[in-house]
Amino acid sequence: MRSLVTLVSLFLVGVQAQHGSEWTYSKGSLDEEHWPQHYPDCGGQKQSPINLQRKKVQYNPSLKRLNLTGYDVQVGEFPMINNGHTVQISLPPTMRMTAPDGTQYTALQMHFHWGGASSEISGSEHTIDGFRFVIEIHVVHYNSKYKSYDIAKDAPDGLAVLAALVEVKNYAENTHYSNFISHLVNVKYPGQSTILTGLDVQDMLPEDLHHYYSYKGSLTTPPCTQNVQWFVLKDYVKMSRTQALMLENSLLDHENKTLHNDYRRTQPLNHRVVEANFKYSPNESE
Ligand SMILES: *[C@@H]1O[C@H](CO)[C@@H](O)[C@H](O)[C@H]1NC(C)=O
Ligand SMILES: *[C@@H]1O[C@H](CO)[C@@H](O)[C@H](O)[C@H]1NC(C)=O
Repeated sequence: MRSLVTLVSLFLVGVQAQHGSEWTYSKGSLDEEHWPQHYPDCGGQKQSPINLQRKKVQYNPSLKRLNLTGYDVQVGEFPMINNGHTVQISLPPTMRMTAPDGTQYTALQMHFHWGGASSEISGSEHTIDGFRFVIEIHVVHYNSKYKSYDIAKDAPDGLAVLAALVEVKNYAENTHYSNFISHLVNVKYPGQSTILTGLDVQDMLPEDLHHYYSYKGSLTTPPCTQNVQWFVLKDYVKMSRTQALMLENSLLDHENKTLHNDYRRTQPLNHRVVEANFKYSPNESE
């Protein structure tokens, strides 16, 4: 009996290794419902994304504004890759964020989550009062006290993500996105990469970088490590519908199918409290 158990667990380890990078959102045997079987943290109590229910958010006036340095225009070469799950831009370590508690974080990469399947354009990960936005931008940072992301990614205080939501109405072209969008054609297939020369992340973020929601959560993709301090900006990025459709229809996944709906469903809040450095005002026009 014991040897049978050993055999079965060896088999499972083999399957896990074999499928290490083949998780998906909705297809096949490692879709998001099955992530916890291979990545136990994905079944944890402090997962992301969540629905930000504005009435329940706790106003904390002592939360200072984020100190973002090196976010404005940078000259250099910034690799941009289709990793089979999203498009990701490598960021220079001169980009830093100081959290309200004084913790300093170093930027590593930014990537996007979007919709596009079944003619539903919306694909943000965090929702606000149940409302899903069109696109979500994640700027991933690691705690600067660690030498590298590889060390920080397993530390309990390792990571912070600055997130922004994209709204699409009848907006004109957002020219801060034009260069990025024109490069998508170069990363159609998973594994393909291209180079952005020059990058201004600040311009790609909302105008108001002062007001945010904050809570403790996880990576939104496997291994779903629960060591992420989230900062979700209150203000939105505006983009034209044409630009959103370009992002949603330019990339292919590992099966050469258009990469649509690369977002995880919202996770239970459980006993966590979401804080914000602004007051909830239901009548505020957006
Ligand atoms: C912001 O952080 C940088 C270090 O990354 C520091 O030099 C600067 O003084 C900080 N600014 C404020 C206003 O705290
Ligand atoms: C995807 O398409 C490319 C180019 O046509 C081809 O080289 C590759 O083998 C295809 N991959 C799959 C999984 O079909």
